Amino acid sequence: MFFDYIDEKLSKQLIFKDESKLSINYVPEKLPYRDHAIKRLFQLFKRLLSTGGKISVNVLITGCLGTGKTVVSKRFGLDFEKFCRSKGFSFKYIHINCRERKTIFSVLLRILQQLNVYVPSRGLSPDELLLEVKNYVLNNRKYLLIALDEVDFLIKRRGSAFLYNFARLSEEDLTNRSYLSLILISRDDLIEKFIEKPALSTLMLNKIKLERYSKGQLFNILMARAEEALFKNCISEEIIEMIARLAGPYGDARYAIELLWKSGKEAEANGLNEIKPEHVRKAKSSIYQRYTLNDIISLSNQEKLVLLSIVKALKEKEKPYITTGELKQKYKLICEELGVEPRTHPQIWSYLRELNSIGLIETMQSGKGFRGQTTLIGISEVPILPLERILISSLEGGKTQ
Ligand SMILES: Nc1ncnc2c1ncn2[C@@H]1O[C@H](COP(=O)(O)OP(=O)(O)OP(=O)(O)O)[C@@H](O)[C@H]1O
Ligand SMILES: [Mg+2]
Repeated sequence: MFFDYIDEKLSKQLIFKDESKLSINYVPEKLPYRDHAIKRLFQLFKRLLSTGGKISVNVLITGCLGTGKTVVSKRFGLDFEKFCRSKGFSFKYIHINCRERKTIFSVLLRILQQLNVYVPSRGLSPDELLLEVKNYVLNNRKYLLIALDEVDFLIKRRGSAFLYNFARLSEEDLTNRSYLSLILISRDDLIEKFIEKPALSTLMLNKIKLERYSKGQLFNILMARAEEALFKNCISEEIIEMIARLAGPYGDARYAIELLWKSGKEAEANGLNEIKPEHVRKAKSSIYQRYTLNDIISLSNQEKLVLLSIVKALKEKEKPYITTGELKQKYKLICEELGVEPRTHPQIWSYLRELNSIGLIETMQSGKGFRGQTTLIGISEVPILPLERILISSLEGGKTQ
């Protein structure tokens, strides 16, 4: 029958035996090249058990885009929960993405949701919500480990006082038990500079830095993922090598895995059961930026204004780079046009660092042909015209901050 034929065509998976294994939310059992980081987390947090939960352990994980910060923390959280269960220690790991949450209030609300504590979403202050978290841990005698992922978004926009409140949460308890530890995750490894002294000294952060993956490491990560997600013989080692080579300069596992997924999609769209080089080329051209639209939309208005100034100055100059002087001129003009108070020099620098760490811009020191030393700013990974359009429309969208 014709319909049977269509049905069969639709349901026929040519490449993927389990596409979810390539999803960003998937947490693999094994994380090659990150054993060391996970082992170190175990060493640090095992002290909770040996002291009967009397201490808190706070960790800062940093590393560039796609170096496995999120997945390492999640894998550790799952494994450590299991470990604690086997030892009869009541423990819970909670993972919160601060970029999605944006305010301290909604971070706390999310924590309480995950603890199945009902609170009205209006009328309570962050302090009151924090008290609810404290009551929960006291009443349930449960140890909490909260991972605040992309915490730099929160700290840079809302300050760091909330970290102090978190850190102090259990200190005031008369039983002398500590109930809460934190894992802070940030791309910016200078994030500590943004944390106020009292919070920083209370937290006593242990640091773990994840380095970019080499091309060879990406190859092995891709091999393992391809085995889990793709049917046998759908992809050759040569093709995996090709993808690893494309992602190699960035050391970014997310980009590598996304390329693998998109290449598979291209092959399937062509009705083939094998990924060919042309599918990889197409996949590469369809992901022209390593960051997502979400990265741009979730920038603060001021960061968007700085990025827009860079885009406009680059467009006018028709050169690969502009100087910081040129950026500042353009930025001042745009702020005037929009009736916005321009930010100070150090603030502009912090925006540039942020844009750089996302991978939206590149900065470098000037060489020959420039008077004195200046920083050059460029955008090379993405066509600037669509970027300008996205920025203007999202600024018009009127996000506050
Ligand atoms: N060692 C590894 N083995 C297998 N998969 C990995 C490894 N490291 C990272 N990945 C995968 O690469 C992708 C990106 O990792 P992850 O999201 O943890 O990066 P990240 O450092 O948090 O990046 P970002 O700064 O953008 O948040 C995920 O799909 C993750 O599962
Ligand atoms: Mg992450």
